[in-house]
Amino acid sequence: MEVARRLRHDEPMSDPAHTSDTLVVHGGVPLRGTVTVRGAKNFVSKAMVASLLGEQPSRLMNVPEIRDVAVVTGLLELHGVEVSPGTGPCELLLDPRNVESAHVADIDAHAGSSRIPILFCGPLLHRLGEAFIPDLGGCRIGDRPINYHLDVLRRFGAVVDKMPHGIALRAPTRLQGTKLELPYPSVGTTEQVLLTAVRAEGVTELRNAAIEPEIMDLIAVLQKMGAIISVDTDRAVKIEGVDRLSGFTHRALPDRIEAASWACAALATGGDITVDGARQLEMMTFLNVFRKVGGAIDIADDGIRFSHPGGSLESIVLETAVHPGFMTDWQQPLVVALTQANGLSIVHETVYENRFGFTRALRDMGAQIQLYRECLGGLPCRFGLRNFRHSAVVSGPTKLHGADIEVPDLRGGFSHLIAALAAEGTSRVRGIGLIDRGYEHFQDKLDALGARYDR
Ligand code: EPU
Repeated sequence: MEVARRLRHDEPMSDPAHTSDTLVVHGGVPLRGTVTVRGAKNFVSKAMVASLLGEQPSRLMNVPEIRDVAVVTGLLELHGVEVSPGTGPCELLLDPRNVESAHVADIDAHAGSSRIPILFCGPLLHRLGEAFIPDLGGCRIGDRPINYHLDVLRRFGAVVDKMPHGIALRAPTRLQGTKLELPYPSVGTTEQVLLTAVRAEGVTELRNAAIEPEIMDLIAVLQKMGAIISVDTDRAVKIEGVDRLSGFTHRALPDRIEAASWACAALATGGDITVDGARQLEMMTFLNVFRKVGGAIDIADDGIRFSHPGGSLESIVLETAVHPGFMTDWQQPLVVALTQANGLSIVHETVYENRFGFTRALRDMGAQIQLYRECLGGLPCRFGLRNFRHSAVVSGPTKLHGADIEVPDLRGGFSHLIAALAAEGTSRVRGIGLIDRGYEHFQDKLDALGARYDR
């Protein structure tokens, strides 16, 4: 498969017949069958950026064909990195030997809706002494500021200038290792620190780091490149800067968000889906919750089977949190399944202040979901005394019926799709292009599972 060529962000992700922006879904059919998940979106894009730090080419395997990978491919190419398909399937070769500055307008045009450009800062400052970051996109699930990123970059010695269309950064001298403590274990900021500290002069100590499996895999990649990184107890990470890094050969860990999304689709539609490539280790928290709701799991070395065993589902009290807690990205698909559970479920979202926008469409489809500003069912979180509706009470089971829906963001959009597949009658789901950002060939997978829909 010619991953690099096909993953250009301006080309279709799959068969052209699959690119219509609206799906007309005829719901009420249990999804049954097998799908395959490849490398995690939230790791692959970061590993691609890490290749910029090396002096030799890198080889990344298990790369999914998703729009986010295409965007990062485009951005790397703009900076002189040669990205080409490897010899095996789903494999990318990344050659950073001719890294150069890119034109601001080109970066702006290529960044699209991705938030990945912010992670180019450290590598570009090391390679070129400067970087430009356009205004960032990403899902509309809260303010999504970049203040932590800019704070840590300044602490390494970078000079940060806000410009009308983005942020210009300079490194007047070599970046210096430093002692840092994050106000919150932010995934992106932890990655920012890793990607910057590995080639800074001296030691960097990071406290309150995020320790998501995708971050551990990024640390594994950096270690292969020659970095010296230790992860201690209590979210403490120590990075000893080195003068140069080589390339890496690495197989990406599987996408645990996509796997959980299909699992929730099985539960919500009363189906039975085997997710090849899903791995137990990174999904333990999800698997516990799936079982508590009443789903059945069958774990094998090469995948996990998720099914609705019949009978009624149970309501639960749940709180999203950083790893090893229940991922915020699992919350949206699970809420759809909870509309089919008996009684009141309480879901407290503690990672993003605004991640329940997608529930409006579910209510239009007949779900009973109420949102609250209070921290319900768990410990008070940082959104508690502010004006954010970040707790949800889902009352079930409710029959869902078809509706016209607009996809709001990546995970919310997939959740709408699950709701439409579970609902009686026909739904029009508009804006499905957004789902390509993170779900590889999802329409082919729907076909394989027996979903009924028109394009
Ligand atoms: N935050 C700040 N300031 C910052 C950075 C973060 O206040 O400078 C706040 C955020 O607003 C949020 C919290 O910290 O409330 C956590 O954000 P984090 O930095 O951890 O998120 P991220 O790195 O921007 C990644 C994933 C998200 C996933 C989160 C949490 C990527 C590209 N994105 O985002 O994935 O939800 O971590 O696990 O890795 C998705 O895949 O759909 C997605 C949104």
